[in-house]
Amino acid sequence: MVAKHFIFLGAPGVGKGTQAQRLAQLIRLPHVSTGDMLRASVQSGSAIGVRAAAVMESGALVSDEIIIGIVAERLLLADAATGVVFDGFPRTIHQANALDDLLAGRGDQIAAVLHIELADEEIVERLSGRRVCATCGAIYHVRYHPPAVEGICDVCGGVLLQREDDQPAVIRKRLAVYQAETAPLIAYYHDRSAYHLVSGEGEADEVFSRIVKAVGVAR
Ligand code: AP5
Repeated sequence: MVAKHFIFLGAPGVGKGTQAQRLAQLIRLPHVSTGDMLRASVQSGSAIGVRAAAVMESGALVSDEIIIGIVAERLLLADAATGVVFDGFPRTIHQANALDDLLAGRGDQIAAVLHIELADEEIVERLSGRRVCATCGAIYHVRYHPPAVEGICDVCGGVLLQREDDQPAVIRKRLAVYQAETAPLIAYYHDRSAYHLVSGEGEADEVFSRIVKAVGVAR
């Protein structure tokens, strides 16, 4: 059976994590977020975490070498055998080339590239109100998706925190880095049949309906 992988592409805050978690649950594939993996490394104090911490806090990108290494290792785990839902990877042309090489070496395919688009003002609004569960990673928003009890995760009862890189100055830097380093990936994938442009406007349920329709899976 050929493994088929899904890619979420889009600026910080467009809803990649929210939608990737949902799609992964629906189609029963692992959700592979390079941002979550790096934050776990920072928390554990591993060598990669020590190198990545300051870079992430500044809003810049962690080196391609580190990212490609952690993704290659992740794909070796048994649960990736039929495919994964990537969130936040690839993020540079070099990473996209490396992914194509990795997948070609395994005989795997890209099932869909879901490019989510949203206006910058809405992105800033979403990121500044985001709260994330420190235990399970569930994503909330103080206005659009509040938890039942303020500051507590509905899923696991963990504490909700604001990410260090969700401060206004760092958000602006991340948007600029996206334009310079990640937006060129749109042209890289645009002409492939797997590419889908999806509007990120409206409620999370509406966006998810567009994604499900684009990839042709039943809900
Ligand atoms: P990462 O964790 O990947 O962050 P990001 O790409 O900047 O994306 P975000 O997680 O900020 O946003 P999102 O699009 O997932 O939105 P979300 O669903 O949370 O990366 C962090 C850092 O790690 C990078 O800056 C870099 O340093 C490093 N890194 C990671 N990957 C790397 C790579 N491949 N190469 C190099 N460096 C890498 O939604 C945002 C908010 O909006 C939430 O509050 C949510 O509840 C709310 N929301 C979502 N959808 C809706 C909706 N439809 N309506 C209203 N609110 C909504």
